[in-house]
Amino acid sequence: MKITAVAPSNIAFIKYWGKKDQSLRLPENGSISMCLSGMKTITTVEFDKSYKIDQIIYNQHLEDNTLNRAVAHLEKIRNLARVTTHAKVQTITDFPSGTGLSSSASGFAALTLACSGALDLRLSERELSIIARQGSGSACRSIPDGFVEWLDGNTSQNSYAYSIFPSDYWDIYDIVAVVSLDRKEVPTTEGMSQVRKSKFFEKRLEGMKNKIIRCKKTIKDRDFTQFGELIESEALEMHAVMLTQSPPLIYWTTGTLILMRLVQMWRQNNLECYFTLNTGQNIHIMVKSAEKDQLISKLHDLEFINRIIVNQPSWGARLSDKHLF
Ligand code: PMV
Repeated sequence: MKITAVAPSNIAFIKYWGKKDQSLRLPENGSISMCLSGMKTITTVEFDKSYKIDQIIYNQHLEDNTLNRAVAHLEKIRNLARVTTHAKVQTITDFPSGTGLSSSASGFAALTLACSGALDLRLSERELSIIARQGSGSACRSIPDGFVEWLDGNTSQNSYAYSIFPSDYWDIYDIVAVVSLDRKEVPTTEGMSQVRKSKFFEKRLEGMKNKIIRCKKTIKDRDFTQFGELIESEALEMHAVMLTQSPPLIYWTTGTLILMRLVQMWRQNNLECYFTLNTGQNIHIMVKSAEKDQLISKLHDLEFINRIIVNQPSWGARLSDKHLF
């Protein structure tokens, strides 16, 4: 049976940086995110006895690192279904990968849903989220709809994501500014494994439970100012940990720094917007609906911006009947 799934990327407002179990990908702290309407992965999977090996076609070509993890993930789901049949997997991601825009989140969420569908596993949303998490932690947050919380949990079964508010709860925009298409030098998994080398990490962990409560409240109240101030300082806090790890992780480029400063300047001049960013140079800028055109036009004026992607809150992973092969 051929099954196709579509899954969005997501942006973490309260971030995951550090694992308490490396292989199960249990995070040190919970996180809060939003699924993104303009950035997705489409994956078609077919298990068939005629396939002698697993074939994975990612954006028309093979990418080793992602590829190995994708094969391992396929194997995990195959074991659950107690089958040994090989699969053909074709995947397209419609935004740049390896640049800090969480392509592994949409990728592993789509792969999880498509594979489990193709093997007729009939899993609940929670079970899908638990499996997606083991492919890439943040992928568990691309399964449910809208605004999402990932519970840190202390076992695999209680570390999953669920929707806290639906996608139409808050009319806000995430405008992604692609500063460059260069792929990050240090992959997220590798960078994250050194988190305890930062003397600030324990200090960060102390405040995470409280931050999650505050973040959920700002979303519940649709309080954009409190929300924005919280998420921008949270992004900087995570980067402070990265910068003080050993070896230090500097994901920012000149363009990133200029844009972070511009966002703060625009804010002083009454264009209320806030940035957040992950393991890469590219930036997410949150803005209210009424001001998004003004923000986009300012970004268009900047020569160093490569591409602008407009996102609203979106649904999570879904099945589709538009197969890729
Ligand atoms: O899910 P991973 O292994 O790609 O890690 C994601 C880490 C951050 O993007 C930096 C933060 C997050 O919560 O998305």
